[in-house]
Amino acid sequence: MESLDDAGVYKLTDDLAIIQTVDFFTPIVDNPYDFGQIAAANALSDVYAMGGKPLTALNIVCFPIKKMDISVLKDILKGGIDKMMEAGVALVGGHSIDDAELKYGLSVTGVVDPRNMVTNAGAKVGDKLILTKPLGTGIIGTALKAGKASKELVARVTRYMAALNKKASVLMREVGVHACTDITGFGFLGHSCQLAEGSGVGIKIDSNSVPIFPEVEEFIRQSLVPGGLNRNREFYGKKVEFSKQVPEYLQDVFFDPQTSGGLLISLAPEKAGSLLNKLKEAGIPETAIVGETIGKPRGKITVD
Ligand code: CO
Ligand code: CO
Ligand code: CO
Repeated sequence: MESLDDAGVYKLTDDLAIIQTVDFFTPIVDNPYDFGQIAAANALSDVYAMGGKPLTALNIVCFPIKKMDISVLKDILKGGIDKMMEAGVALVGGHSIDDAELKYGLSVTGVVDPRNMVTNAGAKVGDKLILTKPLGTGIIGTALKAGKASKELVARVTRYMAALNKKASVLMREVGVHACTDITGFGFLGHSCQLAEGSGVGIKIDSNSVPIFPEVEEFIRQSLVPGGLNRNREFYGKKVEFSKQVPEYLQDVFFDPQTSGGLLISLAPEKAGSLLNKLKEAGIPETAIVGETIGKPRGKITVD
């Protein structure tokens, strides 16, 4: 039993390993159906990041049965089921408890050929790094709770958070990559640090090329940032060097905890252009090459 990213992997035979993950959280959007979809896409993400195939899932539900209408729960579960159907995953059961605060998520079981499993520890010096979704979901979620995010923006971010990393996972397996991680609670730089440390490389990020949702700069100016953002900065800040031309708001965005974020893929430079085109053709428009791996300093990130 080893733990890679936040998923457990158990090797059954030389060509078959089981991946087991669990993720659940409190609502980040107001619409229960959307929340169900996002929670499901997020729960599947670790399996996709490892190049695996999710097979089955179990619902995890904490619901304030005395305070909240049961139709809310039905809509959440419908969102989860629909997303699992889209992914080709069988929702085989689950467990619910009465709780003061609503929470929803899933435990997912997948399979992977351990010889082809992608981890965050395989990056090689000179790789290009591709990111497949824009950043800023934590900041926009905070703005939404404060009543400051527009309907259009919430709809746009919801679409991205509910989008499966499945296509990106299949394409990266086809092309062949060195390493991958999904961008979630530790933010873009936290997960980048883990990849750098795990692989024994340094990382150089080109801040101008990182895709970001609109309006986040304005929200940061209004201090609409989630608590997790500052925790990520405290924890990973020592390992990151920002050059002077990187605006302060961008530093915040790079530490912003993401929900159902994109994949960060490390691959040989001669393959990067081809994978980027395939991702765009597959309908993942804001994908970008955001940096590269370097020899030194190991385990550190330089942002230009
Ligand atoms: Co996870
Ligand atoms: Co993960
Ligand atoms: Co039970």
